[in-house]
Amino acid sequence: MTPSGRPVNLRDLPALVEARLDAGPLGYFAGGAGDERTLADNEAAFARRQLLPRVLVDVDRVSTATTVLGTEIALPAIVAPVALQKMAHPDGECGMARAAAGAGTLMCVSTLATATAREVHAAAPDAPRWFQLYVLKDRGVTHALIDEAVDCGYRALVLTVDAPRAGRRERDVRTGFAVPPGIDMPGVTAAAGHSAGLTPAGFFSLVDASLTWKDLEQLVEQVDLPVIVKGVHAAADARLALQHGASAVVVSNHGGRQLDGVPAGIDLLEDVVQEVGGDAEVLVDGGIRRGTDILKALALGAKAVLVGRPMLWGLAWDGEAGARWVLDTLQAELELDLMLLGAPSPAHVARHHVI
Ligand code: FNR
Ligand code: LAC
Repeated sequence: MTPSGRPVNLRDLPALVEARLDAGPLGYFAGGAGDERTLADNEAAFARRQLLPRVLVDVDRVSTATTVLGTEIALPAIVAPVALQKMAHPDGECGMARAAAGAGTLMCVSTLATATAREVHAAAPDAPRWFQLYVLKDRGVTHALIDEAVDCGYRALVLTVDAPRAGRRERDVRTGFAVPPGIDMPGVTAAAGHSAGLTPAGFFSLVDASLTWKDLEQLVEQVDLPVIVKGVHAAADARLALQHGASAVVVSNHGGRQLDGVPAGIDLLEDVVQEVGGDAEVLVDGGIRRGTDILKALALGAKAVLVGRPMLWGLAWDGEAGARWVLDTLQAELELDLMLLGAPSPAHVARHHVI
C-alpha cells in the first residue's frame, strides 16, 4: 500500500476490501472448495515457474495488444465471468463493463450476473463482450438468455462445463451465505421466481447436470456465435470440445471452487496446447495476479488469460474505477515485463521464455 492507502499491486486489494464486505459475500468471493488445495495451488503454480529473458532484443517499442477469436484487445487479459457483482459494489456488471471497455479489453458476463445482458451492453455499447452460459434445466430461460446476448451483439458464448453443481465450499456453510435481500440475478429469477435467499447449492440446482458433448454440438448448431468451452482440464477433453464444434477452450478449475485436488490450470495448459493448439486458441485462468503470470501463460501457449477475483476486489474497493485500476495495473506491469523479458509483444513470447 502507498502512504496514502492506495494499492500498489493486485495482492494489496483483499486487505482493502475485507472491512467493506459482509462475511457471507466475502467468503463466497474468496473461497474455494474442500481444503482449498487447488485454490492455493493456482497461485503457487505460478511461483514454481521461472522466466528466462533474452537480451539485446529491440524493446524500444513494446505493445501489450493481441487478439482473441479475431477481436483486438489492448492486453491479453479478459475479465472472467464472475457471478453476483452488485454484491461487491452497486456499480456491478455495468461498472465492470465500462472498466473493461476503458482498458480496451473484453468482459465475459455471467449467466448469474446481477444485471441483464442488455443492461451490460447498454453500459458500454461499443465494447466487445462474451456471454458465459450455464445451461439451465429450464431450456426456455436458457434460450431467452442466449437470444438476448446474440441480439445485443455479444461475440461468443462461453459454455462453462465444470460446474454441474457448486463445489463443496465450506466458507459458505460456515457463514450461512445466501444471496442477500435486494440482490437480483435476472437469469435465476426467470428460472426460479426469485434470487434473494438462495444458497449457491440452490442456484446451482437450476443448472442441467445431464449435459453431454451432444448438447455442445446442438448448441453450436443452434447459435450463430463461436462457442468457447470453459473448465477443460484433460487434453483429451479439449480435443473432444473441438470435435463437437467448440471454437476455443479455457483451461480452468473455476478458481479452485469446484473439484478440490485438481492441478492448477497453468500446469495443465501445455498438454492442452500440444493437443489442440494448432487448431484453436487456448485460454487459461486461475491465480493470475501479476504481469509476470501472464507472461508465463503466454509462454506455455495461452492466447490470453482470464482474471476473476482481482476484478471483484477492484470493484469492491472503488467500483468501476477500482476494476479499471486492476486492468490498468496489469497492463502496466505486463508492458514492463515484456521489455525485461526481451519480447516486444505477446506474440513474441515463446516456450523458451519459461523454465
Ligand atoms: C467465479 N467463476 C465463474 N465462472 C463461470 O463460468 N461462471 C460464473 O458465474 C462464475 N462465478 C464466479 C464467482 C466467483 C465469486 C468466483 C471467484 C469465480 C470462475 C471464474 O470465471 C474464473 O474461472 C476464476 O475466478 C479464475 O480464477 P481467479 O482469477 O479468481 O484466481
Ligand atoms: C461460482 C459460480 C457462480 O463459482 O460459477 O460461484
